[in-house]
Amino acid sequence: MKNIPLILMGCGGVGRQLLQHIVSCRSLHSTQGLCLRVVGVGDSTSLLVSDDLLHKGLDDTVLLQLCRVKSAGESLSKLCDFGEGRAFGHPESEGKILEIASQLGRKTGLVLVDCSASFDTVVVLKQAIHMGCCAVLANKKPLTSSMEDFKKLFTYPRHIRHESTVGAGLPVIASLNRIICSGDPVHQIIGSLSGTLGYVMSEVEDGKPLSQVVKDAKSLGYTEPDPRDDLGGMDVARKALILARILGHQINLDSIQIESLYPKEMGPDIMTVEDFLDRGLSLLDKDIQARVEKAASNGNVLRYVCVIEGSRCEVGIQELPKNSPLGRLRGSDNVLEIYTRCYSKQPLVIQGAGAGNDTTAAGVLADIVDLQDLFS
Ligand SMILES: NC(=O)c1ccc[n+]([C@@H]2O[C@H](COP(=O)([O-])OP(=O)(O)OC[C@H]3O[C@@H](n4cnc5c(N)ncnc54)[C@H](OP(=O)(O)O)[C@@H]3O)[C@@H](O)[C@H]2O)c1
Ligand SMILES: *[C@@H]1O[C@H](CO)[C@@H](O)[C@H](O)[C@H]1NC(C)=O
Repeated sequence: MKNIPLILMGCGGVGRQLLQHIVSCRSLHSTQGLCLRVVGVGDSTSLLVSDDLLHKGLDDTVLLQLCRVKSAGESLSKLCDFGEGRAFGHPESEGKILEIASQLGRKTGLVLVDCSASFDTVVVLKQAIHMGCCAVLANKKPLTSSMEDFKKLFTYPRHIRHESTVGAGLPVIASLNRIICSGDPVHQIIGSLSGTLGYVMSEVEDGKPLSQVVKDAKSLGYTEPDPRDDLGGMDVARKALILARILGHQINLDSIQIESLYPKEMGPDIMTVEDFLDRGLSLLDKDIQARVEKAASNGNVLRYVCVIEGSRCEVGIQELPKNSPLGRLRGSDNVLEIYTRCYSKQPLVIQGAGAGNDTTAAGVLADIVDLQDLFS
């Protein structure tokens, strides 16, 4: 039996779903000769660690109990009463992760799984990779800070996986890496990588006012609590940056041109969310509708996409042919068109749900299993 020890950083929606997937896949993995051993789980304030790092992970009953405790909004440290494992507080926990990394990294191997939404994990990740550990990320932030950090994380490219950072569980990164390593030059990537903005653009195409569509999207649970976090385009820009860097572009977030769907005067530092939804948004309806109509008169539709072509990397609204994979997009799916030498007239198209705890966690789990050859 092959053992894969791992530490999970972050147990929010995605992290908890991952733990549940790991537990429910026990028998499947065991038929494949695999055992995923969760030796530690951390949140923003604490870290719970198995008593016997070398021989066993946290028990499945503890992992499931942990999910219940976190779902109820409580802290991980509450589990200390549970009798198994030890909890460490902040900032002690960072040192503890590195201690385990140095203990297991070159001995049994260790995967650090980043399901947090924090900038802070990059410090630990870089050092752990240096100690022979592997990293699996759903968190985009470590890959979208400095180019120097990005390079350090990719010191051993076979030791890092991050499929869920772009398009959640969709095989975007894996497909792109296969294209790149076969020497097939990528001419252009154009993609709708936000479920929220995909939904918004296809609804305004039907003539509905932007203000109404955004409110609908919010009540359907498609948006962040403050929809401006989606409408500003920053999340799409982070995904675009990851794709561009994989293609070899040594660029930073600030070199990406980002079109925000709301003006600076309606920013979070000037307007409350309520004001934005009640008064601000409706001021934008007319302009968007005019753009939709202009596009329609050319037989086109508007989509909020990232475009990576040559050294250009842009994020914003583009007019696209109605009869194309992106033009046909309805609802909240992600759609990515990749144009290469092999896929020149007809692009390679990747489409499907690009968000959700379940698919995202499934992508993370597949990444972990994909590292199995590095373990014994
Ligand atoms: N949900 C999706 O559909 C989706 C899709 C693709 C990618 N992602 C990415 O997946 C990641 C997780 O998403 P989510 O929806 O699960 O987020 P979330 O519910 O906000 O959970 C974040 C978790 O990270 C923990 N955390 C914060 N700072 C930390 C630190 N320094 N060290 C360790 N843990 C820390 C938080 O701790 P507390 O519990 O103490 O606050 C929380 O448990 C994000 O980066 C997100 O962008 C999500
Ligand atoms: C993801 O999990 C969080 C926390 O449990 C929950 O609030 C949210 O509704 C879930 N999202 C989806 C799309 O299921």
